[in-house]
Amino acid sequence: MHRMMEELELQSGTLRRVLKRPRRLETYSQNAAVLVVLGLAMEADTHEVKDPAKLPQWTTWSKEYHQAMSGLNTAIKAGDGTKAKSIFDAANEGCSTCHGVFRN
Ligand code: HEC
Repeated sequence: MHRMMEELELQSGTLRRVLKRPRRLETYSQNAAVLVVLGLAMEADTHEVKDPAKLPQWTTWSKEYHQAMSGLNTAIKAGDGTKAKSIFDAANEGCSTCHGVFRN
């Protein structure tokens, strides 16, 4: 999980830079695709959830994340920087929401 999160952060950093000043946005589709896949892995790997009652919360947040990354990928492929940035910024608020509950 830790290693995966580091990759999430790395790929997000690349996207954050390009979304500030979109240029050849379509070429960054692969970065968004990595985040979709990592989001799926995050949903599947629930070992960080120590309290079974909190499983639905984990599932919801990780699902929201990879679905958002899928939408991000679509917007990036379409070259729509404005839409991509708004999806990206909203999804990144989910990082701290989830960390607040599940990261020790
Ligand atoms: C569904 C819950 C969830 C979401 C969403 C999530 N994280 Fe995490 N994250 C965790 C958990 C749990 C850990 C602790 C696991 C560990 O470090 O072994 C963690 C750890 C990390 C770490 C490890 C280093 C540290 O500071 O502890 C980084 C970096 C990180 N997350 C980045 C991100 C970023 C960036 C996003 C959003 C793009 C994100 N995470 C979204 C659950 C989540």
